[in-house]
Amino acid sequence: MSDTPVIYVLNGPNLNLLGTREPEIYGTDTLDDIAGRLDDQARTLGFEIDFRQSNHEGHLIDWLHEAQAEGAKAVLLNAGAYTHTSIALHDAIKSIKVPVIEVHLSDPKKREEFRHISYVGMAAHSCIAGHGAKSYELALDVAARL
Ligand code: DQA
Repeated sequence: MSDTPVIYVLNGPNLNLLGTREPEIYGTDTLDDIAGRLDDQARTLGFEIDFRQSNHEGHLIDWLHEAQAEGAKAVLLNAGAYTHTSIALHDAIKSIKVPVIEVHLSDPKKREEFRHISYVGMAAHSCIAGHGAKSYELALDVAARL
């Protein structure tokens, strides 16, 4: 096992379709493109990333618990639409000591009203949103400094 500190990057529902999903909102980078760039950036910063996506709320909750159990240094979480609905994710973030940074490609506050509430954001350390795929890179910079 390597001693390199690990940052989890967790992605929620529909983000597997990035690249073709509403490109006018989310851009044309795929999740693999984002993961590849983050991998390089993490290495430069002296970290490793563990990059995952699931369409299932419970997987995201299990992975937050796992991040703590495995001693991850931080979690970047783009919970997709669960951001706006999931008290279970809110509770999971509050249940762990690992800092969680909320990430969004778009800026939900500038979109439909139902996206203005963030149960994730109420529990997260901070939020980076509205920079397209670059939101992930900015969030990784923040996480690396924590
Ligand atoms: C999103 C914003 C959410 O409102 C939406 O449901 C997503 C993507 C983003 O990255 O901009 O699935 O999290």
